[in-house]
Amino acid sequence: MEKRLFGNTGMEVSTVVLGTWVTGGWAWGGADDDASIAAILRAIELGINFIDTAPVYGFGKSEELVGKAVKMSGLREKLIIATKCGLEWDARFRIRRNSHPERIRDEVDQSLRRLGIDSIDLYQIHWPDSSTSFEASMEAVARAQEAGKIRHIGLSNFSPDQIDTCQKFGLIASVQPPYNLFEREAEQDLLPFCAKRGLATLVYGGLCRGLLSGKFAGDEKFPKGDLRRIDPKFKPDRFNQYVKAVKMLKKLAARYDKTMAQFALRWALQQPGVTTVIAGARTTGQVEDNAGASGWDISQQDLIKADEIIRKHIKTPVGPGFMAPEP
Ligand SMILES: NC(=O)c1ccc[n+]([C@@H]2O[C@H](COP(=O)([O-])OP(=O)(O)OC[C@H]3O[C@@H](n4cnc5c(N)ncnc54)[C@H](OP(=O)(O)O)[C@@H]3O)[C@@H](O)[C@H]2O)c1
Repeated sequence: MEKRLFGNTGMEVSTVVLGTWVTGGWAWGGADDDASIAAILRAIELGINFIDTAPVYGFGKSEELVGKAVKMSGLREKLIIATKCGLEWDARFRIRRNSHPERIRDEVDQSLRRLGIDSIDLYQIHWPDSSTSFEASMEAVARAQEAGKIRHIGLSNFSPDQIDTCQKFGLIASVQPPYNLFEREAEQDLLPFCAKRGLATLVYGGLCRGLLSGKFAGDEKFPKGDLRRIDPKFKPDRFNQYVKAVKMLKKLAARYDKTMAQFALRWALQQPGVTTVIAGARTTGQVEDNAGASGWDISQQDLIKADEIIRKHIKTPVGPGFMAPEP
């Protein structure tokens, strides 16, 4: 498994990161716990040493299952565990941003308990919270760092200006933005900014919620509680445009004897400013496929062709903004 140095942290991480939002079941129409644990263990076996989770993924469930699998693997010391803070939910599972220092103090301890570990390798503020000063939130994570509860601090879904402000109050190791062949906003300002500041990145949604796995025909119906029911890319008018583009991209992937998922994740890894790419997986088969993004290259010519395909087929592009939680 290909590894890269993760910014200034000294950590050597697999370029493919295992995403475990789906592991919690919530927003993905449910998930099978045994299959999730098997998928995490398979990822570790294949050399994926970097796992991304969050309290909100299944309201604690994803962290618990990651903790269980890590314990079963017996390889805790070889793994980089990333989780997050700053989202809270009510009794009806409505989510809002909250990076108040007290909330962060509680969340660190809850995550450590659910994950069953002594220290979190990468602790990321999930979304910027405009009702709390960045200084106060950063002080809270910096205190957890001083106490040895977390090793490195990351930010997710923050703009360059917001990151710049946070950097005044603590050492930021990494940034986690959405980024994939179809969702390119980060390449405007954010990825160049991260490259300039020496910030590592773990880009999320590398498969655009499965769209870039190449498995969809354009007429799929998603189960109740699956976020793709509200994702504008999966609505009839746009779904077909994206599926047509994927069909053509798949031909490029075939030139390398790679699957569509492998091509899409490799594409992300070859973009300036990208250190690692997160791919969510619910089965061992998906993990095995995604791990195949490691250790090969798409030619410059084919990277240009991929852009041409997208320009030709996606007439009404739309971003991942629908996922942003209530401020
Ligand atoms: N910081 C943030 O705000 C944020 C937001 C979103 C995600 N993330 C992180 O990034 C990770 C990845 O993003 P994501 O999970 O939203 O989406 P993703 O990686 O683009 O897509 C993952 C989904 O695609 C399907 N899939 C995965 N591999 C496949 C394969 N090889 N073949 C066919 N289908 C496959 C699975 O769903 P089905 O089997 O149901 O199709 C899987 O759950 C998350 O797990 C999370 O760790 C972070």
